[in-house]
Amino acid sequence: MLMLGIETSCDETAASVVADGRRILSNVISSQVEVHARYGGVVPEVASRQHMLAMTPIYRQALQEAGVTPDDLDGVSVTAGPGLAGSLLVGVNYAKGLAMGLGLPLYGMNHLEGHMYAAWLEGGPTPEEAVGFPIVCLLVSGGHTDLVLMRGHGDYHHLGGTRDDAAGEAFDKAARVMGLGFPGGPAIQREAQGASSVEPLPRAWMRGTLEFSFSGLKTAVLHRARELGVGVGLPDGPAELDDDGLERRRALAAGFQEAAVDVLVEKTLDAARQTEARGVLIGGGVSANAALREAMRGRSHVPVLIPRPALCTDNGAMIAAAACHGVERGLQPDLAVNANPGLFF
Ligand code: KG4
Ligand code: ZN
Repeated sequence: MLMLGIETSCDETAASVVADGRRILSNVISSQVEVHARYGGVVPEVASRQHMLAMTPIYRQALQEAGVTPDDLDGVSVTAGPGLAGSLLVGVNYAKGLAMGLGLPLYGMNHLEGHMYAAWLEGGPTPEEAVGFPIVCLLVSGGHTDLVLMRGHGDYHHLGGTRDDAAGEAFDKAARVMGLGFPGGPAIQREAQGASSVEPLPRAWMRGTLEFSFSGLKTAVLHRARELGVGVGLPDGPAELDDDGLERRRALAAGFQEAAVDVLVEKTLDAARQTEARGVLIGGGVSANAALREAMRGRSHVPVLIPRPALCTDNGAMIAAAACHGVERGLQPDLAVNANPGLFF
């Protein structure tokens, strides 16, 4: 089965052709990072406009790189939600037009389910062959921080989420305070790698729950950045840093990353113990973080599945993979799919 996957939920215009939910034939991504960087974050109106400009060339490139024609496709899948309304609308309507024009079935997919299915695109044994269900999934992106128990294909149970900010949002805001640019996750990771000390910061454990809170950590970074004189991104912050300042900023970035990673790992492993899960899977942009990957692998009592970094951030292949597995278990096509910004499990 050859599935086209289209993803436009945030600031990446992406299209991919996937065979049998397992094999990537092409995975083309056009990032808008440079366009949004000057505003310090994603501007929704600008994002949808960029999707409109990029969608057709990206679709064509995905077919070309896969070496297939539209007639070879068996289906069209697209992210229906969650995400930015205007961004989702571009992908959904484009996919609808394609499906109607080509006479193909259309599948509207959940972006978070897509992040899970990225783990099925790694080749070798599948997660169910390698580990078996149930699997605890930590989905960490710019908009979400969720723990979901995957009991089988299409069988999800939400265990907990964030009460305030998503982990990726916290990375982005912490980076902004320190003047490290956008997106913040990769910038914080880079800074932290060069740190020779680690600034201690608080962790919100939310004991007795499988929920997260990152707003306290964000505020702690803000205060500490002022105290250390490294709030380059703040209106009252310094314009630039001397060598000592740069060192203090690296220590603060490392402290932030360590606190965020600590909580993400421990709560995920708590969830795995409570549910007697056979494995842990992480997905979403923040799962590209090297410290998180290393800590999860190092501390887990069960096998850990993490897609390669390029499949952790938004892409079309994960949407196509989720759709293929959906079709296998009887997911019905629907030409009336609508963008659903608040779509959940
Ligand atoms: O899944 P994703 O690409 O888009 C959403 O669905 O939101 O996730 C984007 C988020 C951003 O907040 C970005 O800063 C974060 O993932 N991110 C990272 C890293 N790479 C991307 N966070 C920490 N470390 C990274 N290496
Ligand atoms: Zn995402």
